[in-house]
Amino acid sequence: MSILAIETSCDETAAAVLDGFDRVLAHEIFSQAGIHSEFGGVVPEVASRNHLEFLPRIVDLARSTAGVDFTELDAVAATTGPGLAAALLVGASAAKGLALGAGCPFLAVNHIEGHLLSPFFGEAEIPPHIALVVSGGHTLLFDVQAFGRYELLGRTRDDAAGEAFDKVAKMLGLGYPGGAEVDRLARSGNPSRFDLPRGMMESGDFHFSFSGLKTAVRIFLEKGFSEADLPDICASFQMAVVDVLVAKAFRAAKARGRSIVSMSGGVSGNTCLRSAATARAEKSGITLRFAPDGLRTDNALMIAYAAAHHLAAGHRHPVSVDITPNFDPAALCI
Ligand code: KG4
Ligand code: ZN
Repeated sequence: MSILAIETSCDETAAAVLDGFDRVLAHEIFSQAGIHSEFGGVVPEVASRNHLEFLPRIVDLARSTAGVDFTELDAVAATTGPGLAAALLVGASAAKGLALGAGCPFLAVNHIEGHLLSPFFGEAEIPPHIALVVSGGHTLLFDVQAFGRYELLGRTRDDAAGEAFDKVAKMLGLGYPGGAEVDRLARSGNPSRFDLPRGMMESGDFHFSFSGLKTAVRIFLEKGFSEADLPDICASFQMAVVDVLVAKAFRAAKARGRSIVSMSGGVSGNTCLRSAATARAEKSGITLRFAPDGLRTDNALMIAYAAAHHLAAGHRHPVSVDITPNFDPAALCI
């Protein structure tokens, strides 16, 4: 079962070929981050134009690395949403054309499902668990019964966790996207030096809010800070985000009687999140699953893996299926 998958929902132009659930034949990514960094964020029109320019090369590279002919493929998949409309259209249209040309099924994959399943990459069964998807665009908490059976428990009311990292990084002059840089600086910082708000920590639900924290950091910075304070500011901000993410994910596991918690998306690579979640998991007897290296930030392999589950479940999608730029829980959840 060889699947070619294409991902172009934001600023990564990616293609992958997966055989079955676990045999990686190709995993190619062209990150446009360097192109968008001069604008301080992703410019949709620029992303779209670059997908158009680079996707043919990335797909051809994936195909030749995999050593398969298009006619040997069992399916061609693409992310059809959520994401930037003009960016999604490029990858989805290319995948539809390739599927038609190869005479194989087309599979429309939800980007969030790609992230959500990535911690189980290689496995044919998805166990019941609580899934935290933390990326630049989303902060979502799900109760997962099995593949295709997702119940959305909570989501951010405003900024996504990664967005908060990127905005704080920008205020600190650390470039875009700055999440990883905040993480790096925080390693030598004191997380309890500055007392910052833990948004919605005691809200009694599984929703999140990070804009109050971002504003608190801004007001604090406006009073003036020195270069030497940077590690402590990063560590204190990061701890405030992580405290809420970990608390809500593990409370959800307790409330739903789940023994596994998974974390995926770009922010799941955060050092502080990983160590806080690991400590909490050990204390509460929960098994923690993280998206593996290379599958945390946007990539096509997680889309191919989700597509492999769809193919195994007998799903096929018509090429007339449209893109869905907005996140629609109803389209994904039970
Ligand atoms: O999953 P992803 O590629 O984005 C979306 O699908 O939206 O994740 C990118 C996000 C960015 O906001 C980036 O700053 C953040 O993940 N990120 C991090 C780290 N590495 C990437 N945030 C905190 N700590 C990190 N180590
Ligand atoms: Zn993503």
